[in-house]
Order: sequence, then C-alpha cells, then structure tokens
Amino acid sequence: MPVTAILGAQWGDEGKGKIVDSLCEHADVVARFQGGANAGHTLYINGKETILHQLPSGIMHPKVECVLGNGMVIDPPELWQEMNNLQNQGFPIDERVHISLQAQIVTPIHKHLDAKTELVLGSAAIGTTKRGIGPCYADKANRSGIQVRELREINAVQQKVNEKMEQLRRNNLATADEIQSLLQFMDQFYMASTAILPYVTDTSTLLNSYIHAGKNILVEGAQGTLLDIDFGSYPYVTSSNTIAGSICTGLGIGPKTIDNIIGVYKSYTTRVGAGPFPTEQLNAIGDYLQRTGKEFGATTHRKRRCGWFDAALGKYSTRINGFTTAVITKLDILDQLDQIQICTHYENGSFPEIDLQSAVPHYISLPGWQQTTAQTHRLSDLPKAAQQYLRKIEELLEIPITYVSIGKDRRQLICLES
Ligand code: IMO
Ligand code: MG
Repeated sequence: MPVTAILGAQWGDEGKGKIVDSLCEHADVVARFQGGANAGHTLYINGKETILHQLPSGIMHPKVECVLGNGMVIDPPELWQEMNNLQNQGFPIDERVHISLQAQIVTPIHKHLDAKTELVLGSAAIGTTKRGIGPCYADKANRSGIQVRELREINAVQQKVNEKMEQLRRNNLATADEIQSLLQFMDQFYMASTAILPYVTDTSTLLNSYIHAGKNILVEGAQGTLLDIDFGSYPYVTSSNTIAGSICTGLGIGPKTIDNIIGVYKSYTTRVGAGPFPTEQLNAIGDYLQRTGKEFGATTHRKRRCGWFDAALGKYSTRINGFTTAVITKLDILDQLDQIQICTHYENGSFPEIDLQSAVPHYISLPGWQQTTAQTHRLSDLPKAAQQYLRKIEELLEIPITYVSIGKDRRQLICLES
C-alpha cells in the first residue's frame, strides 16, 4: 500500500465505502480528509447494512484505526451518535478514533443557514444535504469558524455561538421561532462537543508517525470529482476540494507520501441534487437504473438521477486526480440490459472549455450480456460482453481497472490484478 487513496470519480455515491471496507483487510488506518456528514457511505456486512456519515469506512474492522482529518467539518452530535451506534453493535471505538484538533466544527447555526439559503434560492437551489457544510466551510475561509481544539474551552465556544446567534437575529437570518428551535439543539451540541474530546488529537503528527513506521494507510474520499469546489460542475458542487490534491491539506501529510490514487467509478452515472448531468436518461433506462440500482441518497433518501457512463468526464477525473488505477462498481446493475451506451466525448468540445449544461454527448453502443454476474469471482468468468464493456472503459480512461464490484457484500469484488 503504504498510502493509498480511494476517491470518487463522478458525482459521489460511487461505492467508495464498500471499496475502502473491502481493502481494509490489509490496512492499519483509514483517514478522511474533507467533507462531513453530507457523505453517506453504505456498507453491507453479512447481510447487515450500515451507513456511515463521518466515521471512515474502516470502523467495521476492529483492528483498523480511523482518522478524521483537519480538512473535515465535524458535526459533534451526529458523530457522537454514530460512534455510540457502532459501539452498541460491538465495534470497539476507544483508542481507534482520532479527530483532528484542527478540523472545523459544524454548529446547529450552520445547518439552519444551509436550509435557509436553499429555501431563498428556490428553483436555483443547489440541492444540498442541509448538513451545514457550505456555511461551515464559509466560516472557515472567513476565519470565523470554530476549530475542534477550541472545544477544550467549552465556555469560550458557548460565548462565540451566542454571538453568532445574535448576528442571526440582527441580520434577520432567523425568525424568533427559528431561534427558539435552534436553542433546543444547543444542549445536545455542547454535550456531544465535550463527549468527543477524548478522541481529539494532532492527527497530522499521528499519521506521519504511522507513515514512518511503514503502516498501511487508506485515504477515503467523500463526494466525487464533479462535486469538487474548483473542478466540479460549479456552482452545483459541495464546498470542499474532493480531489487528490486536497489530501495533503486535509491530513497534514506530504504529497510524496501518497503511493496510489484509486478512482472509483460506478458502471453508469448517478447524481443527487441539482446541476448539469450530460448523460442523464430521463426515460425508461434512467428509471431502470434507478430501480435496479436502488439509487436513493444514503444521507437524504432522495431519488438519485441516473444515466450512462460518461467517459468524457471520467477521463477528466483521471487527469485532475492523477488516478493510478480505477475501480468499477455496480457492474451487476447492468446485467439485464440488451444494449449499453457509453459517452466517449462531447460533440461540441470538452469540459471545462464548454459549460456542462450545453454538452452534447456522443455515444457508442455495446452489447449487453443478459446474465447474472453477482456470483463471479474471476474476470475470466464474467460474460465476454461484460469483459468487453470493462475493456472499453479502460481504453477510454487510459488507466487499468484493478477491481470490479458485482454486489453489495464485501466479498462481491473481483480483483483484476494478477
Ligand atoms: P458521498 O460521500 C452524492 C451533493 C448534494 C448537493 C451538493 C452540495 O456519499 O459520495 P452539500 O450538502 O455538500 O453542500 O451539497 O453535493 N453531495 C453528494 N452527492 N454523494 C455525496 O457524498 C454527497 N455529498 C454532497 O446532493 O448536490
Ligand atoms: Mg453516498
């Protein structure tokens, strides 16, 4: 390994969590470097579903340590609940969870502002997860946020939060009723903010010491490349950098320590929330993918929009992140289709020279395999047409595919590396 990053190559929900969980067999540490409770990473272990929002997907492996890096925005009540749920299910938490003292704190005020902004935007809304992500990163950039380290002086945090409440009132950003309901969340917020303190540490020093000790570290991305604040479909993006370049600033490790950068692609494309989506299929195919792939947001339960694999954007992701290899997930969802399309490029130019809204996809059509793949263990056992589909994606992305996921379970993963 030693440091291997696993990142989303599309609009999020590519199945990163499952891949991280599967590769954890050989890992000592899993670290997240950005985002917060907007992420929804779904794991199926022995038929049981677990959705993680802030804890890295290594948490289901009792020997793996989990780092929540400084680039994250931490929601204490949600995190504390997530930690307790897992503890109650028999997964040990103590000594295994490390929260950066330089990460930012999401307060109930951030969540209120997120929801309020969306409401005001009306039909131009981003379709955020309303987890307070944008307002929290805005405060960070504005140098008015709260760092995790400040929780050690909870009275000072309380004072800061009270001042922010006052600002809400003064600027008419909350009605009296809204202020009242916000106040009801505060006790829980301060309780959880104190409860997570034993897990707070200097995670950059910790990670660097693990790197020097030769431990295997997985870096888990949240969201995807097209949701990156600089390189995504702006303004329909999240508020952090989701790409490989952000790993160093989000964890406090040097660029030369990263050995592999794996891009996770779903075998088709999905998007939740508003914004351009060139290969979206607003027809029976889109409905089929949504239904068969059970494409509902893991955080907001919204139906995901669905479409064909977009190799034009796929190649873009490869370039922006410098992916060394690719993983293809949910291949089994295409099992019953008789024809499968891939967008190879746009007929009117490439992103970002052209706006994604105006992109005209050029498709090629490949034969489907119309056989079940869920029980396959080797590439050579996959139907020939499925192998052709993967080879075509490989050719278009210009990087090798190393794993193919053919089901929800940890074990439903074909390794292509010989
Ligand atoms: P995982 O880690 C898919 C989307 C939202 C919205 C936009 C901005 O599970 O892949 P935000 O709440 O971040 O301000 O919302 O980003 N979004 C995601 N879409 N998967 C995610 O995470 C997402 N996290 C945010 O739907 O369009
Ligand atoms: Mg998700």
